[in-house]
Amino acid sequence: MKAPLPDNEAQRLKALCKYKILDTASEQAFDDITRLAAQICGTPISLVSLIEAERQWFKSKVGLEATDTSRDISFCAHAILQPDILIVSDTLADKRFATNPLVTSAPQIRFYAGVPLLSSEGYALGTLCVIDYVPRKLSQEQVEGLRVLSRQVSAQFELRRNLVNLVRANETLQKSEERLRLLESVVVNANDAILITDAEPVDAPGPQIVYVNQAFTKMTGYSLEDVLGKTPRLLQGSKTDQDALDKIRVALKAWQPVRVELINYCKDGSEFWVELNITPVTDQKGWYTHWISVQRDITERKQIEKKILKALAKEKELGELKSRFVSMVSHEFRTPLTTILSSAELLEYYGHKSSEQEKLGFFHQIRTATQRMTQLLNDVLAINKAEAGKLEFKPNYLDLEEFCCALVEEMQINSRNKHIISFSSQGQCTDTYMDEKLLLHIFTNLLSNAIKYSPQGDTIYFELDCRNEDAIFQVTDKGIGISIEKQQRLFEPFHRGENVGNIPGTGLGLSIVKRLVESHKGSITVASQVGVGTTFTVRLPSKQQL
Ligand SMILES: Cc1cc2nc3c(=O)[nH]c(=O)nc-3n(C[C@H](O)[C@H](O)[C@H](O)COP(=O)(O)O)c2cc1C
Repeated sequence: MKAPLPDNEAQRLKALCKYKILDTASEQAFDDITRLAAQICGTPISLVSLIEAERQWFKSKVGLEATDTSRDISFCAHAILQPDILIVSDTLADKRFATNPLVTSAPQIRFYAGVPLLSSEGYALGTLCVIDYVPRKLSQEQVEGLRVLSRQVSAQFELRRNLVNLVRANETLQKSEERLRLLESVVVNANDAILITDAEPVDAPGPQIVYVNQAFTKMTGYSLEDVLGKTPRLLQGSKTDQDALDKIRVALKAWQPVRVELINYCKDGSEFWVELNITPVTDQKGWYTHWISVQRDITERKQIEKKILKALAKEKELGELKSRFVSMVSHEFRTPLTTILSSAELLEYYGHKSSEQEKLGFFHQIRTATQRMTQLLNDVLAINKAEAGKLEFKPNYLDLEEFCCALVEEMQINSRNKHIISFSSQGQCTDTYMDEKLLLHIFTNLLSNAIKYSPQGDTIYFELDCRNEDAIFQVTDKGIGISIEKQQRLFEPFHRGENVGNIPGTGLGLSIVKRLVESHKGSITVASQVGVGTTFTVRLPSKQQL
């Protein structure tokens, strides 16, 4: 008769599986027990039998060749249903076994006694059994001996299972050690700097540094010992962007990863741009344990970005300059051209009716307009030369005081004495080494500006002071003045004061002057107040052989 399945069959089979014992080689420990069981009970056969889903398999056997049999005809399949030993004294007298093929044919079993082998959880995995070819009985001592030995088999099973678990744990440990070793070598040898801090406190003084790699040391000059126990704030300095730090603080408070770019400082105080990626790390339970920051030096990239931005700004400025140039040139040429055209027309059609005086007036207007256009063309050519760095500089020995006096006299005549130019000088100015042509251009321009923007009858002050190696010139007027905003761009081409009204001018004069002064290795500054007046100060090296 086939044995019914135990109620807990599924769990029992799962438990059996965990021992990893099925189809393993024979082992001394089990074979000793079966031999002892056969001896104690005086039987020819003894087995450690394990009941699988379809078969019984013998881990250890004495007196039997077979390694397994079908579960359907297994005696042990009956024995595992019992809490204690199953004894069948005469199989032919027991209707469960009388027709069993193992009874009716080889090995013709007539006696069977099997003790269930219990797992630590109480599942009957199989039996320790003894078998005989003749009917028989067991003494109380033999039964007890069999029970003791069955417990020994179970103990061996547990030992085995622990060993299996231990081997598996060891393998897992080895694998994670291997992984850890790989990860560590990645961290240690990474090109990016890596900095690890505790998870807390996020608020001041901040989480403490627990690790930095070699790349960090190389990048910052700080060794591991320098930074252990300190906070990453030690990398900050005056140029570290506060907005970036605020962004970090918000992210840390929310346990969120964050990416920022900011300026860090090396141990020696030098600064560098860094891209920070800060990420929180959790343990297996999900508790935050650390912050890991990967830091990349992006100084070079930032420098390139800066250059590109500068080039773009320059390009924009050039574009603006071009459009200012076009509008100025078209306006400044149109006005004198209109004057020339209308004066020529008047002469052509009404010349015969005009008086000599009137005709002279027309000719004078044509001449003035032509001079204005020539001046404009000269200015454009000069600024072009200056922009291209082609200004010629030809210094010579020069009596500066004499030069200034001659210039003032000429300007005075040209202004038809509508303004007074007062010249004064101090120091030793008679023996200087300068480019007269450039000086002429510079001070003609500054003086005519002073005249142009001052009311008639006003005095213009032209002062010269020669000390040490420098000549300092000042041109002061009490004219309309220049606003602070305009002063800032005064020396750029085509920038004029907003209060110039109809006073003609191209906005090129001062930018040319500045370039001429610079070609002389000098400097020019302006001090002005709207409605009060303006002083231009030019400082030029007067002695050195440039
Ligand atoms: C792992 C980690 C790395 C950090 N690295 C830097 C850094 O390189 N430079 C820096 O200025 N701040 C760094 N910080 C940010 C500061 O430690 C601090 O959190 C930041 O200054 C914001 O806080 P506070 O506003 O209270 O100063 C880092 C923070 C952490 C958690």
